Amino acid sequence: MELNEINPYVLKVMPSAMRKFDHDISVDPKIIKLTLGEPNFNVPDHIKQAAIDAINDNKSHYPYYWGYQELRDAASKYYRDKFGYDYPADQIVVTVGATEAVAVTVKTLFKPGDAVIIPTPAYPLYDASTTLNELNTLLVDTSDDDFILTPAKVQKAIDDHPDLNVKGLILTDPNNPTGVAYSKEQIAALAPVLKKNGIWVISDEIYGELTYGQKHYSISEYLPDQTIIINGLSKSHAMTGYRLGFIFGPSGFVDEIAKVHQFTVTAAASIVQYAAIEALEHGQDDSKPMLQEYEKRRDFVAKEMTEAGFDVVHPGGAFYVFAKIPVGLHMDSWAFVKTLAKEYHIGLMPGDPFGDNEYVRISYAASDEALAAAMKAVKQLVADHSVEPTK
Ligand SMILES: Cc1ncc(COP(=O)(O)O)c(C=O)c1O
Repeated sequence: MELNEINPYVLKVMPSAMRKFDHDISVDPKIIKLTLGEPNFNVPDHIKQAAIDAINDNKSHYPYYWGYQELRDAASKYYRDKFGYDYPADQIVVTVGATEAVAVTVKTLFKPGDAVIIPTPAYPLYDASTTLNELNTLLVDTSDDDFILTPAKVQKAIDDHPDLNVKGLILTDPNNPTGVAYSKEQIAALAPVLKKNGIWVISDEIYGELTYGQKHYSISEYLPDQTIIINGLSKSHAMTGYRLGFIFGPSGFVDEIAKVHQFTVTAAASIVQYAAIEALEHGQDDSKPMLQEYEKRRDFVAKEMTEAGFDVVHPGGAFYVFAKIPVGLHMDSWAFVKTLAKEYHIGLMPGDPFGDNEYVRISYAASDEALAAAMKAVKQLVADHSVEPTK
């Protein structure tokens, strides 16, 4: 057997550089990590109790592959009330996290050879998904537009590649890694160019509930026939390990995605689905206390990083600050995070795996003490290592 004889598209995908870096620095007993997108809150008690009750009540049989009717009814109401989504239960599929939702949607909508636009910096899952499905990935850099994808950039990506069949766009709002949240106008402005060019939008709205002082707007309102929404409970209810996500989309297309989902995972775990029903029926306000904390931490981290000489784009949502490394340090993102980990025992994510090697990502879903120690260390690193003045 030769390794190079397996599917070449699998060989093309690298193991997650973020996970590896996180793993590597974890051997340091003194390390404080602000690396992964992992809330430092626990699952709310009433949701945990629902999971325990489901176990005790022997809710242990195969669920219907779309997900329990009660859960899809609850999702229909919850997301209509929160964001105005307009989907009855028969247009909603329950998935194993947003990750599976993205994977099966990409698999269903596109044929090998189709091209998909991914605005960068971006969550690395998307590029891996398009590559695994033998698609052409069009990375579109948004850094010169404050990390907002503009209609002009979409049109340019299409015009610059007349040889490619551009069929899709994967949009993340609010964004990981930048924390940028689109305004209503910015979302609405994208719809005409996508409609004109017949482009599907996979709209990853997993951070939709985590916005600060601004509302979340879904592109599905403007482009209902061409949008598949990805959402889930990992971030809004701190349920990352439960692995529960949702797909919302037009009839017919969602049915096709549900087939791929069935033959990939059968269904999301029964116990977790019962916990999710509780989250959606009685946990409408669960994210509020987390949001208050996140907002304070965001303000603190953004202020400290700016003081340290980093350029910080205003993060309106999610729980990340994406900061441009001062030129005076003469460090790319890997050099910076490796130095910070080795000499100061603080772990941040390099921007490189997201597509921008001049930035670092700070996850502020961490304790105040951890954030204070990290900011002190960043300032110390800048003081110790600057080759030229930072400003
Ligand atoms: C933008 C984005 N989409 C999807 C995911 C994965 O979500 P899940 O844990 O529900 O699979 C993440 C996790 O960090 C994310 O940041």
